[in-house]
Amino acid sequence: MAPDLLAGRVAWITGGGTGLGRAMALRFASLGGKIALCGRRQEPLDETAQTIRDAGGEAAVATCDVRDPDAVQAVLESLVEQLGPIDILVNNAAGNFLCPSEELSPNGFDAVVRIVLHGTFHCTRAAGRHWIETKRPGSVLNIAATYWNTGSGFVLASACAKAGVVALTRSLAVEWARHGIRLNAIAPGPIPTEGAFSRLMPSDAMLESRRRKIPAQRFGTPEELADLAAFVVSDAGSWMRGEVVTFDGGEWLRGAGEFNDLLELPPETWEALRKGAGG
Ligand code: HXC
Ligand code: NAP
Repeated sequence: MAPDLLAGRVAWITGGGTGLGRAMALRFASLGGKIALCGRRQEPLDETAQTIRDAGGEAAVATCDVRDPDAVQAVLESLVEQLGPIDILVNNAAGNFLCPSEELSPNGFDAVVRIVLHGTFHCTRAAGRHWIETKRPGSVLNIAATYWNTGSGFVLASACAKAGVVALTRSLAVEWARHGIRLNAIAPGPIPTEGAFSRLMPSDAMLESRRRKIPAQRFGTPEELADLAAFVVSDAGSWMRGEVVTFDGGEWLRGAGEFNDLLELPPETWEALRKGAGG
């Protein structure tokens, strides 16, 4: 990628103090972007911002809970005051946990959907109004998950919310194109981060069985996700509208293909099958 791909661009990354948000913040900054971070906790935001400044970049932070639209608006104003008008928004903040759905409380469902779907709406609405009022173009990247399309047991609230995030992405990609605003999404497969893996991959056995089912035979890395994100939000991705880029080492397709479990058959079983079939 051109080293000045995001030169002078201000990128607002929600949940940018940890995990994938932090990786995108560092990568965007290394490509010349100015980084505006928000999240609930001050400490990880400060750490990420300091890392960017230590490398010669510019960063600003503001805390908020993305479930609160007034707090989101105040954060946008504070970040604009610190770094100038926003060019890019990455809706990355999320909440998730494993739970059998019959045991999921209304408040548990509400917490996840309000962070993921309502939070994405609040930030996108605030950024969109900022762009429309100032007649500036904008680029939004929403971080979904591969189950946005298939649904998934045991993460019901997240699956419902991520499906909604994609609907938001596609709806506004068309409605707001006339304002010069682009929206796209990335649907990542499993990428080790403390936030996701502590909640969703709680045992080594679970980790290993998931890894083996990925055709690429490995988990993704935050850095490769950040590279893809930089391309999508930059002018290089300008023709992409309402797209959802699956980024999962082939995991999703592996689970979908009817006979793909035969990958686990040992060679001698294939031999026996051939003989049994008269081959
Ligand atoms: C069942 C749970 C629960 C759990 C919380 N709740 N954790 N129920 N099992 N493990 C219930 C609580 O009992 C409560 O309901 C309700 O959820 C709200 O809980 P709070 O702790 O009050 O909520 P809050 O402080 O707002 O925290 C939100 C959170 C938390 C989502 C619950 O986990 C969080 O802050 N997460 C942020 C980071 C995160 O989740 N990162 C992972 C993203 S990974 P009651 O009824 O008792 O009041 C991801 C990728 C997926 O999305 C794909 C991977 C391959
Ligand atoms: P993470 O480190 O837990 O990231 C979540 C971030 O969101 C945290 O920085 C958190 O900071 C912030 N956040 C949570 N609730 C918030 C709220 N109410 N208001 C403001 N900020 C809030 O996990 P991650 O793995 O990097 O996940 C990042 C994104 O990737 C999420 O959208 C997730 O769904 C998606 N994803 C991840 C994977 C994976 O395998 N890692 C796979 C598919 C999709 P605070 O707690 O300080 O608020």
